[in-house]
Amino acid sequence: MTAPTSQRPVMLTGGAGYIGSHTCVALHEAGHPVVVVDDFSNSHPRVLDRIETISGVRPSLERGDVLDTAWLCSVFERHDPAAVIHLAGVKAVGESVANPIKYFDINIGGSISLMKAMQAHRQQVGRLSPLVFSSTATVYGEPSRVPITEDFPLTFESPYAHTKLVVEQMLGAVGRSESSWKVAVLRYFNPVGAHRSGLIGEDPSGTPNNLMPFVSQVAVGRQAHLNVFGDDYPTIDGTGVRDYLHVMDLAEGHVRATQALMDGCDSFTVNLGTGIGHSVLQVVKAFEAACGKPIPYRIAARRPGDVAAYFADPGKAHKLLGWQARRDLGQMCSDAWAWQSLNPKGYREQE
Ligand code: UD1
Repeated sequence: MTAPTSQRPVMLTGGAGYIGSHTCVALHEAGHPVVVVDDFSNSHPRVLDRIETISGVRPSLERGDVLDTAWLCSVFERHDPAAVIHLAGVKAVGESVANPIKYFDINIGGSISLMKAMQAHRQQVGRLSPLVFSSTATVYGEPSRVPITEDFPLTFESPYAHTKLVVEQMLGAVGRSESSWKVAVLRYFNPVGAHRSGLIGEDPSGTPNNLMPFVSQVAVGRQAHLNVFGDDYPTIDGTGVRDYLHVMDLAEGHVRATQALMDGCDSFTVNLGTGIGHSVLQVVKAFEAACGKPIPYRIAARRPGDVAAYFADPGKAHKLLGWQARRDLGQMCSDAWAWQSLNPKGYREQE
């Protein structure tokens, strides 16, 4: 544990969610107090008890909606955060196609509201907190080659990706308008797994869209079998290849990025990935080894919009932040299984 650099807390919007809860634990481990800002629209208040059990520290909670700028301003006044990590948002690609206005409103509107509150707070206290923004590798669209570096062309194939790209661009403009804005944009590859305690993890509502939570639910008996979306891609075994990243490695990436900005680093954009691609069938095999059960699967049609292979060049994050993913696919699967088997119905189990 490193010594705290400041007793002013790190503000974590969306701090009760999947990435937020793990980032909260990693911030605690690094000695930072945390204030979680969440409306629990896609998370559960019980996560705070679990964080307290893991860390021995309970984050402060501000329950509310980031779109409510007046309320958010009052949160800044109460806590005067040393840094802000903005994770609050919606992230289901399919839903964003069906309901783009919701995505524009929450993801873009929420970020604008946050920037306004930060600016208003700066007028009161005379300084601006650095900001870490949760973006996605989806902003690279279908890359012409792999691994992907941060200077690849940016595009979008869904309203979800569009919102992330727009916010990246807005943050760029804000930074150019005034050099006191210090912003880190983190482009995540595929975050999976859970804290090794199995006390916190991913708790998707409804049928999971993503591979790892779906495989976990097959293992625990909530789904009969996995549909493997396509086995005729030009990859090692014909199935899609992705850069799966342990969520605690991702969480530690947020801590490094926050720390770098607090230490005076200029704004930056980095990929957070392992740099290693794994196919769907490799994930299935690794999960079988972790849970000790077969994962029944069927080959199904390709999922529209999917690309064959997608993985990061994480070199810039290593160079700039000294950050590197440390946990391998086996650990991602065993930690995901610990969470799923201890909490077959997620946080809602005890209700
Ligand atoms: C998806 C989103 C991406 C988002 C990311 C969050 C799409 C097109 N992309 O990425 O925007 O940032 O989740 O982690 O939705 N697969 C199966 N069966 C399943 C589920 C998935 O075979 O039931 C395969 C997919 O075809 C893909 C791989 O598993 O090859 C990973 O899929 P997924 O976990 O959904 O992630 P991405 O598609 O990379």
